[in-house]
Amino acid sequence: MSKKNIAVFVSGSGTNLQAIIDAQIKSANLAVVLSNKPDAYALERALKHNIPVEVVDHKEFDTREAFEAELIERLKKYNVKLIVLAGFMRILTSFFVNNYKHRIINLHPALLPSFPGIHSAKQALDYGVKITGVTVHFVDDGVDTGPIILQSVVPIDDSDSEDSLLEKIHKEEHRIFPEAVKLFCEGRLSISGRKVIIK
Ligand code: GAR
Repeated sequence: MSKKNIAVFVSGSGTNLQAIIDAQIKSANLAVVLSNKPDAYALERALKHNIPVEVVDHKEFDTREAFEAELIERLKKYNVKLIVLAGFMRILTSFFVNNYKHRIINLHPALLPSFPGIHSAKQALDYGVKITGVTVHFVDDGVDTGPIILQSVVPIDDSDSEDSLLEKIHKEEHRIFPEAVKLFCEGRLSISGRKVIIK
């Protein structure tokens, strides 16, 4: 099977990037790791594994479109078939998303459509739900609204703090995110309206 070039976009620690690296997905080639934060630890993880890195600092751009135009420019040489948002904390506009239609997937630390946006674990605790979880979805031009690929449930105990809940969420993320990347790279995902069909 020929490998698909993937770009992983990060902003922080990159434990999910690490999970993707460790999964050694045969159908995927980690072509580049791109960060909007020059000091993201995820960049060090990439360099340790000889994965090329790009930094596009959003603070250096006046508009989202100028920032995204630079992202597109930087990606040109990598022939990327899939963009994986692994804790990338910038909202992408339809300008960027339409350039890579149905080729961007995102990880969200809640069971969408519940608790979109930021601080999702805290949102779930504050609401008092008994379960939350993890969602991997295709990115459309809304915020956390695209067709869902995989989800996994995380129970909330009365004793959970935000930190303990995040720890449980990360464990599930590290399990299902590489799995979703693998499914995409093996050509096993198709989209029908809001539904993702897994072959
Ligand atoms: C992950 O928990 C991911 O779900 C979350 O950022 C974290 C990144 O962790 N993403 C979002 O909240 C996106 N809205 P990592 O840098 O250790 O992979």
